[in-house]
Amino acid sequence: MAPPNVALVTGSSEGGIGFYLCQKLAERGFTVYATSRTLSSTAALVHPNIKKLPLDVTDDSQVQSVVASIIEESGQIDMLINNAGILAPGPTVDWKAEDVKTVYDTNVFSIIRLCGAVVPHMAKRRKGTIVNIGSIVGEFPTPWMGVYDSSKAAVRLLTEVLSMECKPFDIRVMLVAPGSIQSKIIEKHDHFQLAPNSIYGAFFHNIRQRLEAARDKLAMPADKFAEEIVTKALRPNPPSYVLTGGNSTLFRFLAFLPRRLYLSIIWGMFSKPEAKSKRD
Ligand SMILES: NC(=O)c1ccc[n+]([C@@H]2O[C@H](COP(=O)([O-])OP(=O)(O)OC[C@H]3O[C@@H](n4cnc5c(N)ncnc54)[C@H](OP(=O)(O)O)[C@@H]3O)[C@@H](O)[C@H]2O)c1
Repeated sequence: MAPPNVALVTGSSEGGIGFYLCQKLAERGFTVYATSRTLSSTAALVHPNIKKLPLDVTDDSQVQSVVASIIEESGQIDMLINNAGILAPGPTVDWKAEDVKTVYDTNVFSIIRLCGAVVPHMAKRRKGTIVNIGSIVGEFPTPWMGVYDSSKAAVRLLTEVLSMECKPFDIRVMLVAPGSIQSKIIEKHDHFQLAPNSIYGAFFHNIRQRLEAARDKLAMPADKFAEEIVTKALRPNPPSYVLTGGNSTLFRFLAFLPRRLYLSIIWGMFSKPEAKSKRD
């Protein structure tokens, strides 16, 4: 009997998308390496097919040793899901370059790190699937989220190039662009404050409005989202791009607008004066 397929998932903490991706893959018979910064955050993953390892995706040596230990233990990695990510709210000019590096390290460089460790192994076997979790805002930016949006735009282009460069080795590469999904990503910023010297004090309520928009009532449950992504990733010919989640239909429509008009509309949505946005 062939050994079970093996998946490595980053950012698998309870309550987030990665947690449910691990569960769905385990239910489909995969041996799943659920990785996260702290093992306590994956304690609720109890499926017998799930193994847990600590992994901070910004740490080169941890990435190398985790990938090596999985290959040593299981002999293979069939699927890599680059899911770990952090949100970065706030006006673009308020960001310090050092802090932007942390966001890019987590959201973008981590993909290069993980793929650098896993793709040569998959290439040798001429088999494997890579799933990168980008975001709809990597294509349709919004005000007050420029650092995050630009990191996800980078994820999109990196994934597209990776998909070409993986063709000679029969490795499939899939970009997922979620709309809003229920997770813990917003609550981590419930106490967001502007920098004391920010010139955007008058827009603080718009920044909060932007954060709240991500957990609106249309947000898709992460469980349902994960089921859709795993089903598509396991097709014999997985799609190279999946746009799904809350508000994805709206964004499909917005794609038809001239870019300037889109930017004008989205700025209008997130720049109303406080009294007016409350009335609306
Ligand atoms: N939820 C949405 O609406 C939405 C929409 C578009 C895209 N996304 C993307 O979906 C992915 C999953 O996000 P989510 O919504 O499930 O958010 P989440 O609940 O906050 O989960 C994010 C996961 O990434 C992990 N992580 C953060 N920094 C890490 C690091 N340095 N090393 C390893 N893991 C790290 C977190 O670990 P800790 O628990 O230790 O913090 C957590 O496990 C992210 O890439 C996000 O950008 C989400």
